[in-house]
Amino acid sequence: MALRPLGATALEVAPIGFGLAAIGRPGYITLGREHDLGSDRSVGALEGRSHEVLDAAYDAGIRYFDAARSYGFAERFLASWLRRRELTPDAVTVGSKWGYTYVGAWQVDARVNEVKDHSLAALRRQIAESRAWLGEYLDLYQIHSATLESGVLDDHAVLSELRALRDSGLTIGLSVSGPRQAEVIRRALAVRVDGVNPFQSVQATWNLLEPSAGPSLAEAHDAGWGVIVKEALANGRLASMDQIAIAAALANPWADVVLSGAVTVDQLRSNVMAATMPLAPDHVAELARIAEPAEQYWKERSQLAWS
Ligand SMILES: NC(=O)c1ccc[n+]([C@@H]2O[C@H](COP(=O)([O-])OP(=O)(O)OC[C@H]3O[C@@H](n4cnc5c(N)ncnc54)[C@H](OP(=O)(O)O)[C@@H]3O)[C@@H](O)[C@H]2O)c1
Repeated sequence: MALRPLGATALEVAPIGFGLAAIGRPGYITLGREHDLGSDRSVGALEGRSHEVLDAAYDAGIRYFDAARSYGFAERFLASWLRRRELTPDAVTVGSKWGYTYVGAWQVDARVNEVKDHSLAALRRQIAESRAWLGEYLDLYQIHSATLESGVLDDHAVLSELRALRDSGLTIGLSVSGPRQAEVIRRALAVRVDGVNPFQSVQATWNLLEPSAGPSLAEAHDAGWGVIVKEALANGRLASMDQIAIAAALANPWADVVLSGAVTVDQLRSNVMAATMPLAPDHVAELARIAEPAEQYWKERSQLAWS
């Protein structure tokens, strides 16, 4: 896969990236986990599995790796893999996120898996934790699921801290989720701290069932932001047509990198094939017919059980 810039940032990505949400902790909302991961969800088993899939991802040309403080031990597994492979920081682009804390105590059926906190104190605590694991590898730091309700985009103290982190050399982004993604993206595009927008990238859900963020992502890309697509397979709902679903996401001219959330080497290799199968415009138009109303899509997603 040819490398390209992540928007106007200095970071480089291949068209497909790899996210560790489904592999860094024992439970997650993606479908079919019992079949794909089996019952051994011990730390050792998931670290071994992460390393296998990360090896396959790197060998297939993937260069962007996406973690978060709340993905269990995702940062730790990524860090141990980077060191085991003896990769230098400039060989990969690594992103993580702050704003949720993992509280699942390594239980698949934990009553609560993550707790949201978009305060300045949480940012300061979590950037220190992320840096402790990822050190010089950490390139991109994102607000995890920024919303209008959390007030994070109006919090001058948090925004100033993000601006300072940007000045220290980190690339700063946000991820969004839910039926109001487009509104949050547009609000974030308008943020200024002493005349400068601290944000340089956005990570959003776009898939054939839920494409409503598309126009706002085009605006973000036009503003020079890097655009990272997550949940291209709708948490596994589109897994039976994974290559077409990922190729459709890549067909958006504003999409810099589309994340694979694979948990097996076979899934990863299948997902990556999407980069070599461009879709004809009339095929993309035909596929667009399966889109659902955004409210309905997110209501269904909110009912997915952790398994
Ligand atoms: N708010 C946020 O910032 C946020 C939220 C969500 C995700 N993300 C990021 O986006 C990444 C991707 O998200 P996601 O994992 O939810 O996305 P997804 O691409 O919608 O779903 C991935 C799931 O699809 C299934 N799958 C993939 N390829 C398959 C194949 N060939 N055959 C059968 N099943 C297949 C696997 O599920 P099973 O193995 O379980 O069947 C896999 O875990 C995450 O890792 C994370 O980095 C960020």
